Amino acid sequence: MSKLFQINSSVFGDQGVSSQLANAFVQEWQSKNPGTEVVRRDVVAEPVPHLDGDRLTALMTAADERSAEQQQVVEASDTLIRELQDADTIVIGAPMYNFGIPSQLKSWLDLVARSGVTFRYTEDGPEGLLKGKKVYVFTSRGGLHKGEATDGITPYLQTMLGFLGLTDVEFVYAEGLAMGDEPREQGIARANARIEELLAA
Ligand SMILES: Cc1cc2nc3c(=O)[nH]c(=O)nc-3n(C[C@H](O)[C@H](O)[C@H](O)COP(=O)(O)O)c2cc1C
Repeated sequence: MSKLFQINSSVFGDQGVSSQLANAFVQEWQSKNPGTEVVRRDVVAEPVPHLDGDRLTALMTAADERSAEQQQVVEASDTLIRELQDADTIVIGAPMYNFGIPSQLKSWLDLVARSGVTFRYTEDGPEGLLKGKKVYVFTSRGGLHKGEATDGITPYLQTMLGFLGLTDVEFVYAEGLAMGDEPREQGIARANARIEELLAA
């Protein structure tokens, strides 16, 4: 059975445009691929803690040397990573806040990027260990940033996900959402049209 993992990160919950697009995509995906098992995570409703010195130390401590508290930190990170490892398809709702991804999504990335687990360094450089998965990113923005230096999401996620081995990433944009009714409607319509294209492929 194929597995899809979805992560949403809008502060507006299911009302967020990124959530609505990602949810619509997943719903249609399920009807086209019946039997797909879907696992969802909302990092705003259920925040992942920030990476700090204690958590990083826990993640770097050998299994047989961890305190009970450190073991809990590692298990929480393991749970997040397993959701990615188990998935064939990954869907990410990534709204633009202050030119980048929501801090909640960054905290999640900080806990799933783990040396020896999701990436490793070899003599040839870094190697991502999450391989053979397709990623869809739904990114909503008030303004127009696609292809511009002000887009702090696309290059960052391409680099970060690629570092983990997730190199097959499709971005779906909903832009101009704060530029008035018509640009907003057009931005959402374009994103929905792209969803239809992707699902028809
Ligand atoms: C706190 C905050 C910061 C924002 N920063 C930006 C920004 O830097 N650039 C931009 O184009 N839009 C910005 N916006 C507009 C959002 O990108 C837009 O509302 C989008 O719909 C958010 O996605 P969501 O509805 O999924 O939460 C911001 C909105 C909020 C609430």
